[in-house]
Amino acid sequence: MEEKRSGGAPRAADVLWAGRLKEKPDSAAFAFQASLAVDRRLALDDIAGSRAHAAMLAARGIIPAEAAAALDGELERLAAGIAAKGLAAIGLDAFPAADVTAEDIHSLIEGLLTEKLGDAGRMLHAGRSRNDQVAVDFRLYLMRIIPRLREELSQTAAVLLDRAEEHAETVMPGYTHLQRAQPVTAGFQLCAWACALIRDRERFADALSRITAECPLGSGALAGSTLDLDREATARALGFAAPGVNAMDSVADRDFALETAAAVSIAMVHLSRFCEDIVLWASEEFGFIVLSEAWSTGSSIMPQKKNPDFAELIRGKAGRTTGNLVTLLTLLKGLPYAYDKDLQEDKEALFDSLDTLDACLRMFRGMISAAAFNAERMKAACAGGFLEATDAAEYLVRKGVPFRKAHETAAGLVRDCIAAGQRSVGERTLSQLKEKSPLFEDDIYAALEPLACVRARKLGGGPAPEEVRRQAARLRLLLRQAVKPAL
Ligand code: ARG
Repeated sequence: MEEKRSGGAPRAADVLWAGRLKEKPDSAAFAFQASLAVDRRLALDDIAGSRAHAAMLAARGIIPAEAAAALDGELERLAAGIAAKGLAAIGLDAFPAADVTAEDIHSLIEGLLTEKLGDAGRMLHAGRSRNDQVAVDFRLYLMRIIPRLREELSQTAAVLLDRAEEHAETVMPGYTHLQRAQPVTAGFQLCAWACALIRDRERFADALSRITAECPLGSGALAGSTLDLDREATARALGFAAPGVNAMDSVADRDFALETAAAVSIAMVHLSRFCEDIVLWASEEFGFIVLSEAWSTGSSIMPQKKNPDFAELIRGKAGRTTGNLVTLLTLLKGLPYAYDKDLQEDKEALFDSLDTLDACLRMFRGMISAAAFNAERMKAACAGGFLEATDAAEYLVRKGVPFRKAHETAAGLVRDCIAAGQRSVGERTLSQLKEKSPLFEDDIYAALEPLACVRARKLGGGPAPEEVRRQAARLRLLLRQAVKPAL
């Protein structure tokens, strides 16, 4: 048995693979390169990978069946312990402890097995490297987490659709350049947000399809193994479509992490944009939305304040997920093939992104469910911005006027209104309208009402209430379709 290294307490890793190294790392250096604080959340995945590997080693006669059975029993016991007691079951309850007892989750679990089983524990790593092991674990973890995130996205989109249907007739201004543009409804905009989240959900499914496509196990450090491993069997046992095509690629590849981080970043940018609107709408100036008190905060100094902190914080957290994506891209750029320790930094960034999106979706959903839309204020905001000007032009187009001329006529009406201090085209008399175009009739006034403008936009994709209801129904159907990762 090795003597204990001088730097700190005895560690499983010392015993396992001091290898050719005689010198003893000091404890600060050991702690610096250790990743247990981060990769501890891969415990169950590491156990699953080891169970598949051990069973395969026995099936191929590389280790005795009794050793595999002992390994499997102990790994199962560890997994059950974690399921019941969390990571305390593998001594990680007090984490981060002052003394790091193992370099990473892989060495910790192998150490526990060896401590308990002796030589059976020492047999497990045959034909395996931590390089393929971590690549498998990371993928298995994402295979567990991504479906949960997709479910969070579904539930959030469903809440938006509920509120969209509720407000299918709640007229409000639609904006371009943050200037009032054309009348829409709150339901129309909420439905637009749901569309974005549903695409995000599909983006995750797409990333997942590549994550499950190739199993890195059997790639070893970078060049496979001389042992007669059954890569098909382990790939199948772990839920992958096939073993990886090229061992060097399998240990070097992290584009699955990049894709996942990108999908998170895009979803967070979506949430951030929605939250920007909510912050605006919750202001006194807009007054379109009243956030419930449970989803607002007060000020430590200004007694009157009711701040949309949750929306602001979600918007702010999109910064960290963008940062995490850039971290991963930068990490990989310039990295020589195949494995480099730099790759250990990949998990912290992605885990943070996944946690952030998960939390933000829950918060956003709660905030939207409890918010009240102020239909009066929204309707009032439709007056005064000449949102009906396009409708006046299209009224003339329907009567045969070339659009460019109709546009000029409507623009002239807006100019006249402004000069006369009027707030909408409908404030002009019929004779004033007829001066600009004899084609205007009495029915123009009804056509320029905000709700009429909205109802008239009943093309597919438009804001007409029945069309928004149709969009919501179609989106709900998409949400019900369980997208299986394409194996
Ligand atoms: N903790 C390491 C990581 O996350 C595991 C792989 C270590 N491999 C090695 N050759 N040092 O990347």
